[in-house]
Amino acid sequence: MSVVLKGKKIIIGVTASIAAYKAALLVRLLKKEGAEVKVIMTEAAQEFITPLTLATLSENPVVSAFVKGPTGEWNNHVDLGLWADVMIIAPATANTMAKMVTGVCDNLLQAVYLSARCPVFFCPAMDLDMFVHPSTQHNISVLQSYGNKLIDAEEGTLASGLEGKGRMAEPEHIVQELKDFFAPALSLLGKKVLLTAGPTREYIDPVRYITNGSTGKMGYALANAFAAKGAEVTIVSGPTQQVASQNVRVIPVQTAEEMYASVEEHFDGTDIAVFTAAVADYTPAEVSNTKIKKQEGDMAIAMKRTKDIAKEMGLKKQPQQFTVGFALETDQEEQNAQGKLTRKNFDFIVLNSLRDKGAGFGHDTNQITIFDHQQKYPFPLKSKKEVAEDIVSFLDEKIKARAADINA
Ligand SMILES: Cc1cc2nc3c(=O)[nH]c(=O)nc-3n(C[C@H](O)[C@H](O)[C@H](O)COP(=O)(O)O)c2cc1C
Repeated sequence: MSVVLKGKKIIIGVTASIAAYKAALLVRLLKKEGAEVKVIMTEAAQEFITPLTLATLSENPVVSAFVKGPTGEWNNHVDLGLWADVMIIAPATANTMAKMVTGVCDNLLQAVYLSARCPVFFCPAMDLDMFVHPSTQHNISVLQSYGNKLIDAEEGTLASGLEGKGRMAEPEHIVQELKDFFAPALSLLGKKVLLTAGPTREYIDPVRYITNGSTGKMGYALANAFAAKGAEVTIVSGPTQQVASQNVRVIPVQTAEEMYASVEEHFDGTDIAVFTAAVADYTPAEVSNTKIKKQEGDMAIAMKRTKDIAKEMGLKKQPQQFTVGFALETDQEEQNAQGKLTRKNFDFIVLNSLRDKGAGFGHDTNQITIFDHQQKYPFPLKSKKEVAEDIVSFLDEKIKARAADINA
């Protein structure tokens, strides 16, 4: 298994060519690569290979019709189209390609094709004369002009016994094309990334704790953005409801002390460390072993300082390592962010101010300003996913610039 297709969501559209049997091998190879595969078949394709075979191999139900049965349940073509990272129509019949050209939408596969925002690959398969026919050749070029990616038919003996071009590309070749397509996006391939995310819980007694409003959304969005660029990602995570993508390793912790221990254990081997967690600065000096009983009058809890994880890691940071901090501020934002940048030896720091609308805890959006040691870079309000992609791209540029400096 290579990491390029691991976790990629792939729709395979199977149409009614004799080459449909090759779809079984394609599904198998993609599953071996760690991809998630869903198959959509045309009605006619089911004459060539059974949905049972493809459902078993893909480990997902095969869908074919708009409506599932007499209950009125239906297969949501828009959801399927949005789910996919890539769609491959293999084999693609002359008939299906003609429909794709004109936008005919009389089956589920066509509806998903029209709804998909992801790249679409198509692999024509047909007999020699059908393939060289001007209609087919015209349709192939129109489909390419729409941005669809052709995986061309190959030469050889055809099912009819004729020799020539028209065989569907071999499944191994299709998988290689997909890998080549996705590989350039993996600029952080092999890089080890360590993130902290979420809040910490500082226990007063076995049932009570002090925490904060961090949801972990930003940290998890970043983890997913790093993983999408091929990095090997570990999140040391305080308690959150967030779900990381399949190829992200999550180490759950609760207290600032546990988070510190876990980060310290993993920091030396990492290339990039990003500190997004809202770690408690103070923790109760004593933790009661039993639930504290209510008493007359007020109570005070003595607090002691926790270890500053980012600062401690900043002290042992090696020249090849990158560290990134986050600052959530309510006042004197720039001054505080720049102070932290220097004190904690970060390469850059991401500031979000609670004064900005839509920024900070709990929102799905965030507005950030990045400070490095030279200047500041303001960004507009965006979704946390887009903000994460901006931060990862910014870091990617920094890594490239450092590599160029070393090589100069
Ligand atoms: C045995 C047999 C093999 C066929 N092989 C092909 C083929 O390789 N390529 C093709 O374009 N059509 C082929 N056809 C014709 C298609 O099955 C037919 O055009 C069908 O309507 C396509 O439906 P679909 O595009 O909705 O899957 C074949 C038909 C039969 C009966």
